[in-house]
Amino acid sequence: MHLLPVLLLSLVGLVSSHAQYPDICIAKPKDIPLNPMCIYRKEVVEVEEQEAKEAASPEKIPENTNPRVWELSKANSRFAMDFFKIVADSKTESENLFMSPLSISQAFTMAKLGACDNTLKQLMEVFHFDQVSEKASDQIHFFFAKLNCRLYRKANKSSELVSTNRLFGEKSLTFNQTYQDISEAVYGAKLWPLNFKEKAELSREIINDWVANKTEMKITDVIPEGAITEDTILILVNVIYFKGLWKSKFESINTDNAEFNVPGRSEPCEVPTMYQESKFLYGAYKDDSVQVLELPYKGDDISMVLVLPMEGTPLETVEQMLSLEKFSDWLNKAQEVQLSVHLPRFKIDDNFSVKEKLEKLGLVDLFDPNTARLPGIVSGGRSDLYVSDAFHKAFLEVNEEGSEATAASAVLVTGRSFSPRRLTFKANRPFLVFIREVAINSILFMGRVSNPGCN
Ligand SMILES: *[C@@H]1O[C@H](CO)[C@@H](O)[C@H](O)[C@H]1NC(C)=O
Ligand SMILES: *[C@@H]1O[C@H](CO)[C@@H](O)[C@H](O)[C@H]1NC(C)=O
Ligand SMILES: *[C@@H]1O[C@H](CO)[C@@H](O)[C@H](O)[C@H]1NC(C)=O
Ligand SMILES: *[C@@H]1O[C@H](CO)[C@@H](O)[C@H](O)[C@H]1NC(C)=O
Repeated sequence: MHLLPVLLLSLVGLVSSHAQYPDICIAKPKDIPLNPMCIYRKEVVEVEEQEAKEAASPEKIPENTNPRVWELSKANSRFAMDFFKIVADSKTESENLFMSPLSISQAFTMAKLGACDNTLKQLMEVFHFDQVSEKASDQIHFFFAKLNCRLYRKANKSSELVSTNRLFGEKSLTFNQTYQDISEAVYGAKLWPLNFKEKAELSREIINDWVANKTEMKITDVIPEGAITEDTILILVNVIYFKGLWKSKFESINTDNAEFNVPGRSEPCEVPTMYQESKFLYGAYKDDSVQVLELPYKGDDISMVLVLPMEGTPLETVEQMLSLEKFSDWLNKAQEVQLSVHLPRFKIDDNFSVKEKLEKLGLVDLFDPNTARLPGIVSGGRSDLYVSDAFHKAFLEVNEEGSEATAASAVLVTGRSFSPRRLTFKANRPFLVFIREVAINSILFMGRVSNPGCN
């Protein structure tokens, strides 16, 4: 048996353009022929249990939201929490971490489109797609596209959130036309034929250049040397880019060096730390030992959520108890208060192979040449495809940059003393950072800042 690896990539960074398929955003399921090769059905018993559970504690669906889109968004956020823990475990507590779990989910849904049997089942379970009710397997792609419409096509674009997908395939092969059509219609992912067989290294350069071009050179060399071989047949890439301006910006004049405690170091180090005092959604939860702050971006549709353990609590403790329910609960209970915010200016980037991390979560067959079942990708239903690796690369920069000088928001910058009773959020020790879409609480990015720039 000759084995053909498929590489999956998902990256985060600056993106300059976006293939437009406006029809998907207004289409109904019947308008788009979605016939993946294999269909997954949950066991009846499980379905009943799930429905009973939902009936017992009905959650309020956000306004103007398709219930399935909302369920999918929750499924993605659940995966985000699971995956984050695995990545956090693989790093020391002083290492930063940043990723877009949504980008990973998106890249793997493109693989799911061609998957069957146990490979399909594991994809459905690990990414929690099986928690979307109804005949979810064939429709996941449709609802993912709808979710993308919701996330990436805001009427009033004050912040920029863009996602781009692309398939690169070995040119001597005939890819299944249905697979290509669905990928393109649903994810905007066109197939680009390359000569992996004879020109593996050149192909790697072409893809890395394409990514670099899409990310304004923020992300280069995403595919490491040697990752593409003459056996490679397909590479799936997803790139997400977000750029937002603070609704209430930090004045540069208030930025000053302040101490930050990097875990495992005896001395704190000095890092440029931004400061402002304004009204924000904030909660201090003694039981969970965390302070939670939401900093909205202009437009109010996307925000940054900071989770800071209370003094004396290691961040690891908070990471271990993290769940979508906790996260939602903290935000639901948060109240608008006048708050002094001290936040380091930072830039973090991160890259890793997601393969062994997903294997830990139970996505095993897809990566195993002996058990992977991806017959829907290449014409003729070949049974010898598997995913050889999957890379993820992400980048985040947080600084004072806020609104233009004309912003009407209530920016109340008052020096650093006065009002002794005011509340303070002082990020002078490791904290978690989330970037989310507010209305449906979709986690776009998440990470940990353990070292905001100490040498
Ligand atoms: C392509 O995939 C579809 C299912 O998505 C399948 O019905 C069809 O037979 C496949 N075509 C070829 C040529 O393998
Ligand atoms: C979008 O912009 C229009 C025109 O500037 C404005 O009237 C409308 O209220 C805005 N909508 C939202 C949701 O901000
Ligand atoms: C990306 O490619 C396009 C077209 O090939 C080109 O016009 C553009 O300048 C490139 N962008 C960068 C950042 O190189
Ligand atoms: C990936 O991250 C590691 C640190 O974790 C770094 O040493 C390496 O240079 C990065 N690779 C790329 C291609 O950015």
